[in-house]
Amino acid sequence: MAKRLITTEYTVEDKAIEGTLRPQLLADYIGQSKVKENLKVYIEAAKAREEQLDHVLLFGPPGLGKTTLAGIIANEMGVGIKTAVGPSIEKPGDIVSLLSNLAPKDVLFIDEIHRLNRQVEEMLYSAMEDFYVDILIGRGATAKSIRLDLPPFTLVGATTRAGMLTAPLRDRFGVVSRLEFYTIDELETIINRSADVLGVEIDKEGTLELARRSRGTPRLANRLLKRIRDFAQIKYDGRITLDVANYALDLMEVDSFGLDNIDRAVIKTMIEKFDGGPVGIEAVATTIGEDAGTIGEVYEPYLVQTGLIARTPRGRIVTGEGYKHFGLERPARV
Ligand code: ADE
Repeated sequence: MAKRLITTEYTVEDKAIEGTLRPQLLADYIGQSKVKENLKVYIEAAKAREEQLDHVLLFGPPGLGKTTLAGIIANEMGVGIKTAVGPSIEKPGDIVSLLSNLAPKDVLFIDEIHRLNRQVEEMLYSAMEDFYVDILIGRGATAKSIRLDLPPFTLVGATTRAGMLTAPLRDRFGVVSRLEFYTIDELETIINRSADVLGVEIDKEGTLELARRSRGTPRLANRLLKRIRDFAQIKYDGRITLDVANYALDLMEVDSFGLDNIDRAVIKTMIEKFDGGPVGIEAVATTIGEDAGTIGEVYEPYLVQTGLIARTPRGRIVTGEGYKHFGLERPARV
């Protein structure tokens, strides 16, 4: 089984490096210029009014910096942050405990907010809108609902699937921002900064090659940088050059477009089993034995962004570029 480089889950080690490589302030955050400019205004305005920032929803493919931005928002506001992952908030009591332990204006960051259960989500409605929750005490005929006032807070929600959020929840976010894939230039800057933090030397060509193969995703760029550093240290003289980057990336089966085995399996399956499409993402996912949600959220967005596959009303198709990536020519259609 090929090593998975692109997943929504990450290891303890990844979290630790991400912690050190993560910028703490908006000024150090590279890319996402529209999101950044807007947030800057909202943060300044809220601070000048001495109010909490309005609730913020961040969406987009994994690894683009949603968690990083949540941390930056708290830092820039000068408030604390508490973090939870949607499905780990199981009972109404869990969300009440999170909310009632916030200090005024704190950030509550909920990652994978599309995976909240309904009861918990419904408690968030009044919490977000009017800063209170109704809690039920006792059972049956003697049950009583009491109102618990909460400190004003900012909910920062992150999701890879904005479409999976219910309308009442989505509508309660005052700021909704979509994160985009990073350009090669932006990734080069991030890689150089990370190399500095890690204390590893990397030359211009090595940086460019890594940036090209990081599928527009800083998390992947940082993860690959760490692995290439290992190869540089053991097999070379410690410096990352184009040769080292190529050697390590080839061994890790990251191709010239930054595609990994699963990306390639998606395109190849579409070509070989479905005549290049149109085909539904579920059929492709089933054929390669992957979860349709993962293919749709994690893999497909980059393949569409690079123009290797395209979405059509009748399903996904492999484009001429997609065929070319495998040394093939797209057959003429009748
Ligand atoms: N590290 C990861 N993402 C980053 C970003 N957007 N800017 C700077 N450093 C980063």
